[in-house]
Amino acid sequence: APTYEHIMVEKRGEGGNVGLIVLNRPSALNALCDPLMKEVKQALLDLEADSCVGAIVLTGSEKAFAAGADIKDMQNKQFVECYNGNFLNDWNVLSIVKKPVIAAVNGYALGGGCEMAMMCDIILAGDKAKFGQPEIVLGTIPGAGGTQRLTKAIGKSRSMQMCLTGDMITAQQASSWGLVSSVHPPDQVVDEAIKLGQKISQHSKLIVAMCKESVNNAYELSLSEGLHFEKRLFHCTFSTNDRSEGMTAFIEKRKPNFTDS
Ligand code: CAA
Repeated sequence: APTYEHIMVEKRGEGGNVGLIVLNRPSALNALCDPLMKEVKQALLDLEADSCVGAIVLTGSEKAFAAGADIKDMQNKQFVECYNGNFLNDWNVLSIVKKPVIAAVNGYALGGGCEMAMMCDIILAGDKAKFGQPEIVLGTIPGAGGTQRLTKAIGKSRSMQMCLTGDMITAQQASSWGLVSSVHPPDQVVDEAIKLGQKISQHSKLIVAMCKESVNNAYELSLSEGLHFEKRLFHCTFSTNDRSEGMTAFIEKRKPNFTDS
């Protein structure tokens, strides 16, 4: 297994069916420097390739999920370097893995930290979590989806308010605005996320991936295109062993034995 400097990776749950990635750069409140993001990418690709793993949980510490892109690294960056190097582009690995990724957020999820949580499929929050897009305070704007995913999650007025003021919102606000699924005591968020991951892992990984792809298309396609895509994927499930096994198990009043095929 690779050794990491800025993250910790474990497998939890029954048979190690949930991958856990812990951001671990406490000296900078998990600011997302390039080496840290490279490690996250490697860990995600490893867990994606691990056939035992059905879901991935991403978390930070109780103080900070992540306080954003690394401001010390950005301080002297110039446009040409950002443009030519497509700065922040490789963060999107989080949004292209097929397995469901659950963010378990405690403490600060700011700037790139909030954006990284929003790249995940489900967000659970600790009751002291704070979400914000403070880039405006630094004279820049969100650069990893903040103006886009936040707006889709909570609507224009609230997103504008957050992005234009830089103010943080509480976990309770994030919950009532639909940014997070549920709020928990801080010391229970990761366990809740792992429980959720285990539940998802019991299903066919193949069908879970198809389902995730279809939900994500709700953000990409018009309703009629999205419905068409969904219908075709639904039809596709009828070419799988797991669809046949799932329905047969129901009729035979037993648990299905999925083979991810
Ligand atoms: N980048 C680099 N270092 C950071 C950091 C960041 N985003 N956030 C915190 N740190 C560092 C601090 O510099 C400090 O380091 P030193 O001890 O070496 O000075 C250490 O982490 C602890 O931070 P604080 O002393 O500031 O802790 P606090 O408890 O007083 O405040 C905080 C916590 C409110 C989160 C504050 O640290 C803060 O405002 N951080 C910056 C948040 C921010 O602006 N994020 C957006 C970044 S831009 C971005 O993300 C662009 C994008 O869209 C991708």
